[in-house]
Amino acid sequence: MLIHKDMKMADVIHLNHHLLHVVNRFGIQLGFGEKTVESVCEQHEVSLAFFLEIVNTFHDSSYFPVDNMKEFKAGMLVEYLHRTHQYYMNFKIPEIEKHINDLCLDNSLEEEIKQLLSNFFQQYKFELTTHINKEEQRVYPYVLALENAIETGNNTDELIEKLKIFSIHDYEEDHDDVESKLFDLKNIIIKYIPTPKDSRILNVILHEIFELENDLNNHGHIEDQILVPIVEKMEKELTARIQKNVQE
Ligand SMILES: [Fe+2]
Ligand SMILES: [Fe+2]
Repeated sequence: MLIHKDMKMADVIHLNHHLLHVVNRFGIQLGFGEKTVESVCEQHEVSLAFFLEIVNTFHDSSYFPVDNMKEFKAGMLVEYLHRTHQYYMNFKIPEIEKHINDLCLDNSLEEEIKQLLSNFFQQYKFELTTHINKEEQRVYPYVLALENAIETGNNTDELIEKLKIFSIHDYEEDHDDVESKLFDLKNIIIKYIPTPKDSRILNVILHEIFELENDLNNHGHIEDQILVPIVEKMEKELTARIQKNVQE
């Protein structure tokens, strides 16, 4: 069952509580009362169509309406993707890190095992941070500059230079999937860590990693299948416009 505009926002969370942090990324917090999805979106000046597509792709992994989503503005997608990055770096990663640190305080576990888990996680954190920084510093500003050029009709020399040295195809080519690396981390926990004194900590860590993996999967899909084609279309339009200007 997909989420629709006339549902009460409270019922959306009752139906799937994992959607809460997705809803938060739109600047929407708890305390919905009896309001519908449509009225909450209106109140927060959030595009209802965009909200529904994002929430539904998260809610039902078989739902991914590429054609509908390619119609959205690049800036709107970038804003959502940026907030998702913030959620990973400011909440999810520190949360997992805190649980791993707690586990490392457990004297019943061997030092070697604690080191293995901790090093593996630190390496992962470094890779994720590098991945996100590249998108935040290079890719997203490029996307926004292109969108601005399309909207304003300005082809500055700076933009022409940007199009010469970078294309979204370069990004697509080396856009590695950061979620698959979490598989090894899960495997270490599932197969090799002996039961600590407080076994719940390991369960919590594992649960958090599964959630992060699922989130990253959705995020990567949006980048590859929605953002990339939208930007390719803008690149084509701008390149054609620049060539036309040169000929005139
Ligand atoms: Fe990203
Ligand atoms: Fe990415």
